[in-house]
Amino acid sequence: MTPFDKATTAEEVTAGLDLKGQTALVTGATSGIGLETARVLALRGAHVLVTGRTLEKARAACEAIPGRATPLACELEDFDGVAECAARVTQLGVPLDMLICNAGIMAPPSLELVRGLEKQYVVNHLSHFLLVQRLLGAVQAATAGRVVLVSSSAHKWAPAGGIAFDNLTGEKGYDPRVFYGQSKLANALVARELAKRLAGTGTTANAVHPGLIITNIIRYIPAWQQLLVPLIGPLLRSRIKTTAQGAATTCYVAAHPAVVGISGGYFADCAVATPEKVMEDDKLAARLWSESEKLTRAWL
Ligand SMILES: NC(=O)c1ccc[n+]([C@@H]2O[C@H](COP(=O)([O-])OP(=O)(O)OC[C@H]3O[C@@H](n4cnc5c(N)ncnc54)[C@H](OP(=O)(O)O)[C@@H]3O)[C@@H](O)[C@H]2O)c1
Repeated sequence: MTPFDKATTAEEVTAGLDLKGQTALVTGATSGIGLETARVLALRGAHVLVTGRTLEKARAACEAIPGRATPLACELEDFDGVAECAARVTQLGVPLDMLICNAGIMAPPSLELVRGLEKQYVVNHLSHFLLVQRLLGAVQAATAGRVVLVSSSAHKWAPAGGIAFDNLTGEKGYDPRVFYGQSKLANALVARELAKRLAGTGTTANAVHPGLIITNIIRYIPAWQQLLVPLIGPLLRSRIKTTAQGAATTCYVAAHPAVVGISGGYFADCAVATPEKVMEDDKLAARLWSESEKLTRAWL
């Protein structure tokens, strides 16, 4: 039990925490949940490494962040760029107390490929897998480093069996929603497998569902539906969170003392949540790990 719930904001969940001396990297910190996560962690004293698709975007985000924020380019469609970002972080020579894999896209309407693979699988999952691998040493150098993967309750949209390893190119069929669900399931399975690999080390890995928040994540839904959002939003007020509330679970899992030592978990509304059974499939998590290693081997 925690004193927090789905209405708790990121500022509330971190109230009283002193993160001075700690470093957090947040991907996709230029907008939405990631920007709020970075802002609040910096407000509490952490040095935040703000990644964006370009250095200019990351710099602009840093201007909206109080305290110490360092901009970094990290385009997740580009494995070279991810490796370069990781190299820059390593060069800083600081332990990473929090590595927050937040960036994401949702449901491009038609199939888009990156390096011959479906785009959401690359942006949401594979590039974060690569980033985590490259920065694990820095996270392990922290006293109790935490890796947080921003997943989604949409993991339940994943295809039968969880990950369609025989259709990562989308050539056997593409459903935007199913591929989004698959990528978000992959985020959570990586957290689970990583937690297993880190058992007994003091470094933890967890997945979170932030809730339902109206952000730029809806960029791919048809324009006419986007026009309806301001009308429908107030009717769904009990289900939709503000961005301040949407960043709370990430901040809780990344920084709150109540989460020390908890690893391999799935959190929502600032508490442990119950995922679909497929998220607890250890064989699937292990297979995803090895298939992802094969696809990123040249950059690991
Ligand atoms: N909003 C929700 O209801 C909800 C629910 C469940 C889970 N989530 C998850 O929460 C996370 C944050 O989403 P959000 O709602 O805050 O969306 P958002 O406002 O659209 O933010 C997404 C961030 O990811 C970045 N990004 C997108 N493509 C990228 C790429 N190729 N390389 C590097 N960065 C990239 C975006 O940068 P640009 O703006 O420059 O493209 C932006 O900074 C996502 O992982 C999403 O799946 C959101």
